[in-house]
Amino acid sequence: MTKLSKIKLTNITKKFLTNEMETHALQGVNLEIFDGDYISISGPSGCGKSTLLTILGLLDTPTSGEYIIAGNNVSALTVNERATLRNEHIGFVFQSFNLIDELSVFDNIALPLRYRQQPLSSKEIQSRVISCLEKVQMSHRAQHKPNQLSGGQQQRIAIARALVNDPAILLVDEPTGNLDSKNGDAVMQMLSELNRAGTTICMVTHDPRYADMATTKLHLLDGTMAEEFSMGLAV
Ligand SMILES: Nc1ncnc2c1ncn2[C@@H]1O[C@H](COP(=O)(O)OP(=O)(O)OP(=O)(O)O)[C@@H](O)[C@H]1O
Ligand SMILES: [Mg+2]
Repeated sequence: MTKLSKIKLTNITKKFLTNEMETHALQGVNLEIFDGDYISISGPSGCGKSTLLTILGLLDTPTSGEYIIAGNNVSALTVNERATLRNEHIGFVFQSFNLIDELSVFDNIALPLRYRQQPLSSKEIQSRVISCLEKVQMSHRAQHKPNQLSGGQQQRIAIARALVNDPAILLVDEPTGNLDSKNGDAVMQMLSELNRAGTTICMVTHDPRYADMATTKLHLLDGTMAEEFSMGLAV
């Protein structure tokens, strides 16, 4: 069976201009992500990891280069089209869980579904949220507020929210940065299980142990991919 290419970056650059200072955060990055991949991106602080993830997640645009996701050439899209593509095809998990404290766990996870262009029935929303809660083993906390949960539990809710639209790819930036090692390990275990069940993941991490859990390990150095090798099998 031929693998389906989900994402293709060709010669992506990103320049930031601040007070006459020019930073070349990305300098000609090429990256192809296939269905079912689990990619980790490591590299020193400031090498461009989050910038790359932000571009992959359609939260920012590259200065030059081509980005194709799910058959769409991103640079040809309007701002609104990009926002729709982001909401429906990208799941984002950040170091700081970014949950809304005023909303219940259920409503946090339901949020991306309520912003869909094609509205879903409340029955459909309910069944999707429940299924994602089951995936992250948090069904028993649906009516809690995020600040009534542990850090590890909050991150699992953030993962459920990222999965609720059945995204083409889950983008994860330092998911364990705010967690102790026990909770961090549990979150990483969960990401591996999700990948085994078919979710495509691209994750940034400083931790070599966690980077090793991915099937493809990439290294960024000064905005360029330094090295690439594939382990072939998930551990
Ligand atoms: N909005 C911005 N404006 C100006 N410069 C920026 C901006 N965002 C990032 N940069 C610069 O781009 C470079 C790459 O930043 P990035 O956040 O991608 O690094 P990183 O690899 O994620 O680092 P860390 O491991 O510390 O999170 C840095 O030199 C940073 O100062
Ligand atoms: Mg970063």
